[in-house]
Amino acid sequence: MTTPICDFIDRYAGSARVRMHMPGHKGAGLTGCEAWDLTEVGGADSLYDPQGIIQESEGNARGLFGAAATLYSTEGSSQCIRAMLYLCALAFWEKRPGERPTILAGRNAHKAFLSACALLDLDVAWLFPESGGYSLCRCDIPPGQLEEALGRAPQAAGVYVTSPDYLGNTAGIPALAQAARRRGVPLLVDQAHGAYRRFLSPSLHALDQGADICCDSAHKTLPVLTGGAYLHIAPSAPPVFRARAREAMALFGSTSPSYLILRSLDRANRVLAEGYPERLAETAGRVGALRRRLGGRGWRFLGDEPLKLTLDAKGYGYTGGQVGAYLESQGVVCEYADPDYTVLMPTPENTEGDLSRLEAALSALERRPPLPTGPPPFQRPAFVMPLRRALFQASRRVPIGEAVGRTAASLAVSCPPAVSPVVPGERISENTADICRYYGIGQLQVLEREGGAAL
Ligand SMILES: Cc1ncc(COP(=O)(O)O)c(C=O)c1O
Repeated sequence: MTTPICDFIDRYAGSARVRMHMPGHKGAGLTGCEAWDLTEVGGADSLYDPQGIIQESEGNARGLFGAAATLYSTEGSSQCIRAMLYLCALAFWEKRPGERPTILAGRNAHKAFLSACALLDLDVAWLFPESGGYSLCRCDIPPGQLEEALGRAPQAAGVYVTSPDYLGNTAGIPALAQAARRRGVPLLVDQAHGAYRRFLSPSLHALDQGADICCDSAHKTLPVLTGGAYLHIAPSAPPVFRARAREAMALFGSTSPSYLILRSLDRANRVLAEGYPERLAETAGRVGALRRRLGGRGWRFLGDEPLKLTLDAKGYGYTGGQVGAYLESQGVVCEYADPDYTVLMPTPENTEGDLSRLEAALSALERRPPLPTGPPPFQRPAFVMPLRRALFQASRRVPIGEAVGRTAASLAVSCPPAVSPVVPGERISENTADICRYYGIGQLQVLEREGGAAL
């Protein structure tokens, strides 16, 4: 597997050229990585018009992922999500010029989805969880529920689901893809947490399961620098997806993409091509064995992802935050903790020693009687106005108690997981307030004047 971006940058860094170009650090400086941090000098190609080393490297990634097209992102899945929605709207407008597209979306969507819908002025028809127990990050969507929702959405432009979610639950992509296909709309998957799934045997990658387009945060599960991600397009996608993908990414991206991240994505291709499935299988086996041993000690887990350990902390007698803090005191830092769960994300880059330390720490924690409470059951909120209208109006921040009965004007997110229990344009009910309190959200942004004029 070639690594054209690495080769070019390494040659450039090793040469004695005088850098009369950006960046201002001139290849030396404060953090040690400056020599490899370039801009679009001759030969370095251009991310949004690639004809050289970036084109070749993206071609390598496309082959590895079996996609019809793969585009690099240096601004995470967030950039790809915005691009996916733009492409989805373009495909809709090709068929129905001038009409308003609706995206059917699982309610556990990341905030990038909401900001994209607001910017693009798309309507959202939420798919609320009907089974599986409510949790901020989770939204199980049976295919029958999607079919019914599609039947009620004459303006449907696409279906958007998050799989895997932050807790390691996965959606039934094949059946959801069939339902979307029957209706003639594309399936868009936020697979930020699942880039590695292509290298499982058999592949569990969204594209291999029928998605038309998906984003993968390479940096979340593969050995890639933070910010590195892929936009993958399937052969089944509407032709405009491939035709306008580059433009879509450019629309939402910086004009100064990071060459450190591009270099990292390029180098990862070789890692993925050389023995990665075997290393992954070995790690998944180790994580599975660890799960079973901890299960013998009373730990229970959520989700079905081979590389995610989501501890049911309350079942063991603690909050997720308490387990996270305990682990940290033992030198193990978790990815995310909420009142119910503690999420750990091992990869093949973790050593056996890492897993042993985790096991020792969890085994040493005294088991207590389970804590009973979970999040309040979710009730559908009332819609007052479109997302964009609410987001782009004068608003103010109020304590949660005062927000009840008002219209939400912004998201309420902590990051991670960047999933909001409140969506702009919805009436804040007692139930919304209870859910916010449960997740530690004490204030909400509400419209300054109810029924105010739209911008
Ligand atoms: C489900 C989900 N989607 C999208 C994103 C955004 O990914 P990125 O940080 O690569 O922009 C995240 C980030 O945590 C996420 O958890």
